[in-house]
Amino acid sequence: LLSRALTGNLVIPDFTAFCAELERLFVAVRECREGDVASYIPQLARADADGFAMAVCTVDGQRFAIGDTDARFGVQSTCKPINYAIALDRLGIDAVHRHVGREPSGHSFNEITLNAARLPHNPMINAGAIMCASLIAPGLSAADRFDSVFQTWRALAGAGAVGFDNAVFLSERDTADRNFALAYFMRENGAFPDGTDLKATLELYFQCCSITIDAPGLATVAATFANGGVCPLTSERVFSNDTTKNCLSLMASCGLYDFSGEFAFTVGLPAKSGVSGALFLTIPGVCGIALWSPRLDALGNSVRGVEFARRLTKTFTFDSF
Ligand code: DON
Repeated sequence: LLSRALTGNLVIPDFTAFCAELERLFVAVRECREGDVASYIPQLARADADGFAMAVCTVDGQRFAIGDTDARFGVQSTCKPINYAIALDRLGIDAVHRHVGREPSGHSFNEITLNAARLPHNPMINAGAIMCASLIAPGLSAADRFDSVFQTWRALAGAGAVGFDNAVFLSERDTADRNFALAYFMRENGAFPDGTDLKATLELYFQCCSITIDAPGLATVAATFANGGVCPLTSERVFSNDTTKNCLSLMASCGLYDFSGEFAFTVGLPAKSGVSGALFLTIPGVCGIALWSPRLDALGNSVRGVEFARRLTKTFTFDSF
């Protein structure tokens, strides 16, 4: 960072002006009180509805955060691209996509539906994420499987504030009829690799959803994706370039559930949301941005998060298209 700054090679040279603009957007979007916190899992219903944080991290490691920047929130569905990338990095495209498709589903995140090949539509919805969990080191113990995911999050976040919320995990597991139904439906259709342990797979998926992070940490995760898989804060390569590119492609087409097409149309950036109100945006080659605001719209996306993203690409020419 220092040498880039000294040689005038920063990706956002006037970072102060950039942050002033982000702050202006943040303050405007904070006025919005629409939407409700997720209530289908009891622990999620206890979230601070009006909590709001935004953080940015550039590919050369400049950082800024505003709002409830110390608040820890569950990553929820933002674990889906991470699990997909872990599986891709270890197994390769062909082995992963023998078990999960790569087209938007056109349905809500937990819809019981498979594609024409009887596979989950993509890794960014529940069925596909459960499938990706089944592909992560199935031969290892539950502890080692979780640990490998957890350490990946720490590496992506540059050792930022990554934790685990056991109450959310227990609550998820106790109210998971739909996810069990999805897993049994996929097994009935022969979608899993032979020998998959459904219970262990589902528990790993619930544990991944129950990982916690703060907005600056999630912005660094997003920045690692923006930086071709190398964490800007530690220079550690977490994912290969190809894995990162493939994951971003699916975030761009499928990252916001049944709102993905509209989001691509109006915002045009790879992104992933979660029912905790987390949303991360990746601007390839430039920066990652994280938002956290638990009030959700009818499709399960953070109302303020989506509105911030809209205003962001109206203000700056970040839209990929
Ligand atoms: O599988 C579930 O029910 C949740 N833990 C999924 C999380 C999620 O964020 C889906 N989102 N809208």
